[in-house]
Amino acid sequence: MDILFKNGTVINSKKRCVADVAVEDGKIIKMEPDITPGHNTQVIDCRKLLVLPGAVDAHVHFELPLLIGADDIPYRSADDFFTGTRAAACGGVTTVIDFVSPGEGESLPDALEKRKDVAVKACIDYSLHVGLSRINDAVLSEMEAVRKAGITSFKVFMTYSQRVDDDEFLKVLKRSRELDSLVMVHAESHEELEALREDFVKQGKTDAWYHYLSRPEFVEAKGVERAIELALKAEASLYIVHLACKGGMKAVKNVQDSLKAQGSGQKIYAETCPQYLHFTSEVYKQYDGYKFVCSPAIKGEASREALWEAVKDGSIGAIATDHCPFMLAEKANGADNFTNIPNGVMGTEIFYPYMLSQAGKGIISYERAVELCCFNPSEIFKLSPNKGIIAVGADADIVLYDPNKDSIVSAKNSHGAGDYTIWEGVVLKGYPIQTYSRGKPVFKDGKFIGKRGYGRFLKR
Ligand code: URP
Ligand code: ZN
Ligand code: ZN
Repeated sequence: MDILFKNGTVINSKKRCVADVAVEDGKIIKMEPDITPGHNTQVIDCRKLLVLPGAVDAHVHFELPLLIGADDIPYRSADDFFTGTRAAACGGVTTVIDFVSPGEGESLPDALEKRKDVAVKACIDYSLHVGLSRINDAVLSEMEAVRKAGITSFKVFMTYSQRVDDDEFLKVLKRSRELDSLVMVHAESHEELEALREDFVKQGKTDAWYHYLSRPEFVEAKGVERAIELALKAEASLYIVHLACKGGMKAVKNVQDSLKAQGSGQKIYAETCPQYLHFTSEVYKQYDGYKFVCSPAIKGEASREALWEAVKDGSIGAIATDHCPFMLAEKANGADNFTNIPNGVMGTEIFYPYMLSQAGKGIISYERAVELCCFNPSEIFKLSPNKGIIAVGADADIVLYDPNKDSIVSAKNSHGAGDYTIWEGVVLKGYPIQTYSRGKPVFKDGKFIGKRGYGRFLKR
């Protein structure tokens, strides 16, 4: 055996135990008390530590091209697959899932291959969701080809230029059901938000606060309700990304309850992100509110509370980050006009430590944090049984976590390419001290020690 993690408290979804964890050739080969190490085994004393699965951040945007503002100014999200996965690894993430965005007229398999080439510099394992925009017979047929190539999830938008209409959305849902795959949706009601946005711009109301007021609670709730309605019509499972509002959460809970009562196998999953759990729309009133501009917008306190309730009661199925940072000067380009701000915030390095810190403070259990950040995303996106769990046969994606190591988040100690963080100054209770990806250390005592290109594409 290569490594023996000795006497740690192993936390999995719904259970914990004190055990030794033995690793060989990148896999967990034994988990029980009192394992005897071999001659060349590296033994790591974990007595005061939690031994956790590496997290699965199922929603990241590395090197994402965007056109912003009336003049279509081109931007690219600040982290590439190397710096983004480096930051992720330093926060205990061992798997990320990014997106393929096929160009106009490009086939899905071609776009997938191209994106895989871009992703080869990742230093932890990764997979891809495939985005769908213009829905036609060719696209519906190519969904099968990429499903065979290991992609089990497709994403649609209800807003932005790549949005689908109801008819297209329904076709994707039905096709996805046939292919035993999952549709993910960015749910906001396009017509309402465009009307509000136009109106505010006309009135010269363009500071960051109006980003929120043009995408308020009801705009997102309406999108979520419509997405659920279409999923029910198609009898297809649905994963709502970055859910941020109380009304949307209520719609999800209602449909989950009714599907459960019917004994239906159809699932409506909701994902939320740390930025929606921690901040409120008040941030958009700050002088630097532009830094927080992301879509959906961060909502009011009632929504934040509703999301926490859903994290606790199980109706939120997964936490991910929607990691999509831009440089401060790029965000500041829109300080006076929110329509010129590239949308997106950072999060992949903070998300697991943030949720674990909430566990350390007694808000949720460590088991629930692991369920939301590791086990559930792995199950939902068909990465099980290799990822999201500490168990014999799983990949040795392991985080050693010190529940007593408190820290303060700062951009200067972060490992992404960005030059600021919305999380600056946030105090965390506990922090990961080591991350292992398939048995190889990639993060130790505050430093990245992994390798560019070590990450593997995960065929799902
Ligand atoms: O503002 C965000 N979230 N930017 C990334 C793209 C998206 O909508 O998820
Ligand atoms: Zn989105
Ligand atoms: Zn996103």
